[in-house]
Amino acid sequence: MHDKTRALMQRGCQFLGTEYAILCGAMSWVSERNLVSAISNAGGFGVIACGAMTPELLDTEITATKALTAKPFGVNLITMHPMLFDLIAVCAKHGVSHVVLAGGIPPKGSVEAIKAFGAKVLVFAPTLALAKKLLRSGADALVIEGSEAGGHIGPVATSVLAQEFLPELSADHVVFVAGGIGRGDMIAAYLEMGASGVQLGTRFACATESIAHPAFKKAFFRANARDAITSVQVDPRLPVIPVRALKNKGTEEFTAKQIEVAKLLDAGAVDMGEAQLQIEHFWAGALRRAVIDGDVENGSVMAGQSVGMVNSEEPVAEIVRQLVDQSEAALAR
Ligand SMILES: Cc1cc2nc3c(=O)[nH]c(=O)nc-3n(C[C@H](O)[C@H](O)[C@H](O)COP(=O)(O)O)c2cc1C
Repeated sequence: MHDKTRALMQRGCQFLGTEYAILCGAMSWVSERNLVSAISNAGGFGVIACGAMTPELLDTEITATKALTAKPFGVNLITMHPMLFDLIAVCAKHGVSHVVLAGGIPPKGSVEAIKAFGAKVLVFAPTLALAKKLLRSGADALVIEGSEAGGHIGPVATSVLAQEFLPELSADHVVFVAGGIGRGDMIAAYLEMGASGVQLGTRFACATESIAHPAFKKAFFRANARDAITSVQVDPRLPVIPVRALKNKGTEEFTAKQIEVAKLLDAGAVDMGEAQLQIEHFWAGALRRAVIDGDVENGSVMAGQSVGMVNSEEPVAEIVRQLVDQSEAALAR
């Protein structure tokens, strides 16, 4: 079963220790013990979203996830987290096998600290030059994520990144492609281009096992691709990473938050690092409101453009099966 797909995923599967080289990208508040273990138990690779968690909370979440699956899973750490090295120590304590460093260039010593306890390091890279540099300096694998994705995004489409990165890197490196993947046909296409595997978020966010609030899930089922829009930067002095989410009142609140933070920056009350941290805290709070409280009007319903292909609640195993069936059918054509 799925021989062609498995053959193309072989290197990715070996790297992850899974049946399929399909990662469920970390989603703050959504990617906790239940979804992560369900993904790994279904033959994919679940990743805990550490987000703004304290080291104590991460410790609890890893323990709880281990109780639900014996399969490999990863932990996603945000590089700008003020306690990054304490979080790495928690991963070391648990012997976590894979750590994904997200949200920026890994700070000095972080890749080394992860490798020191034997874990593999996955990084994101917005440009080919940076990708090469990170791979040279110890990163074990790369995720390229296009602007179709949900959550924090870069400016370039997945299709373009794939053409830029895969021909250059896939012969020697493990590269996973993320952003805008809703069907297995697309997985097949990226595998044929040299990807070792893929990462999806939006397609898994509303799985049966996801703890997202029913109202959050309903918003996903109703939405079309064009409803998943990017946030706008209002002040050129305050660079904010764009976020893709369903359009609602919360989108407007973000504009107001930026003006507030820009004023603090002007008054010298905060420096640029603190200003950006405040923006990230805003997103974490807004996402929590939507995912946990179900306030899909004022919270942030982060979603990728593939949201139009998410129409009902299905168990993770069923979603994985559909994806690999579709991939196999595409490869057999
Ligand atoms: C609700 C939501 C929350 C997310 N939170 C994070 C996060 O905390 N850290 C991260 O690295 N990526 C985050 N992402 C990105 C996903 O890990 C994944 O790369 C992305 O969803 C893939 O693109 P897709 O949405 O088109 O499938 C998030 C995505 C969504 C939809």
